[in-house]
Amino acid sequence: MGDHRVVAPTDGPAPVLLAVTGGIAAYRACEVVRGLVKADVPVQVAMTRAARRFVGETTFAGLSRRHVLTDDPDPNGPIYPHLDAARAARVMAIVPASANTIARLAHGLADDVVAESALALAGQLLIAPAMNHRMWLHPATQQNVETLKVRGAIIVGPEDGQLAEGEEGPGRLAQPDRITQAIRMLLGSGSLKGKRVLITAGGTREPLDSVRFLGNRSSGKMGVALADEALARGAEVTTILSNTLVRPMGGTQVDAPTAADLAAATQAHAKTADIILMAAAVADFRPAAAHDTKRARTGSWDLHLEPTEDILAGIAKNRLPHQTIIGFAAEDSEDIAKAREKRERKGVDLIVLNDISDPAQGFDSDDNAVVLVSGSDEIRVERAPKPQIAAAILDRVEALVV
Ligand SMILES: Cc1cc2nc3c(=O)[nH]c(=O)nc-3n(C[C@H](O)[C@H](O)[C@H](O)COP(=O)(O)O)c2cc1C
Repeated sequence: MGDHRVVAPTDGPAPVLLAVTGGIAAYRACEVVRGLVKADVPVQVAMTRAARRFVGETTFAGLSRRHVLTDDPDPNGPIYPHLDAARAARVMAIVPASANTIARLAHGLADDVVAESALALAGQLLIAPAMNHRMWLHPATQQNVETLKVRGAIIVGPEDGQLAEGEEGPGRLAQPDRITQAIRMLLGSGSLKGKRVLITAGGTREPLDSVRFLGNRSSGKMGVALADEALARGAEVTTILSNTLVRPMGGTQVDAPTAADLAAATQAHAKTADIILMAAAVADFRPAAAHDTKRARTGSWDLHLEPTEDILAGIAKNRLPHQTIIGFAAEDSEDIAKAREKRERKGVDLIVLNDISDPAQGFDSDDNAVVLVSGSDEIRVERAPKPQIAAAILDRVEALVV
């Protein structure tokens, strides 16, 4: 019998050291490894003893195409595996980070390969915690996280929501796509390096009086996913945020609650942008007059609405030769002819058509499905989490950028 091993593991220095610790969310670290490998980022996985009770190291070896670092002695391996891995790593990501390992790192323990590597690390430490909400909110954990933050660690998540044990609260691992994006951003290289990207996100609110407004259901998740993906690709990103539930993980951020604020901020930043993505849902109409104070509950209230400025058309009209401009169209049906007409009328390079008739996608949802309508073709992007839709949009934009 000969040697039937076809794919040799590609061991050697890796810019990302991904440490898996013992928590239910360990299986989601597989998606992060997969995302990094897909983006051509070599990743070395290390596992704590507890992590190996949750997911087998063979899975991580298979996904990363490397031997996994554990505390098992390997007579044929390097003498100082933790030092080699820590020296090579520009980013060490702990995914998921257990309460126990967060405590170990905060106190500088060196009692396994993960803690040893973290102590020897010269690069950036990223921590994606996941645990029961009471464990997360315990003052000991909070203090340990604060200690690590002060030392320069980046903390991604946790998110609020349903936990594996059936309880609810803050403690869910951040979305794997978001963790992957954060790691890629910290690596600081990518296909959009040197490009300045301007993104609008969220939905504007037009005041009726001092407490009420006319708004829309946009959460800003799509625009923020675009900002995170552009940051992960190395772009210099400015995001103009209209009442978003989430914020990008970095870059310049400008708040613009109303359509007029958004118009002013977009015009001010457009001049220096190479790529402009207008993902915010901007009011088409606003109350012609708003009350300064809260209007009393008397009689009826007739509203007169006046049109707002067409920001996208204005940006396209004043475009500079090197600029690529992308508009978004939320429609009640997938009307490609209408999107094509809008693209031409507004004078933009690409329209991202979003069919909002399905409540499982679009506004306020974590998923989306879009059609990318350019001058030459239309590309359908099937339903997927918004970070993946953002990646598909930016792949198309990169192909259009001159
Ligand atoms: C079923 C089960 C699920 C667990 N999930 C978590 C978790 O999500 N987060 C956490 O911090 N600890 C969790 N633990 C506890 C850790 O596994 C335990 O604290 C362990 O010592 C962590 O070791 P490590 O930090 O070296 O990986 C869980 C334990 C069990 C039995």
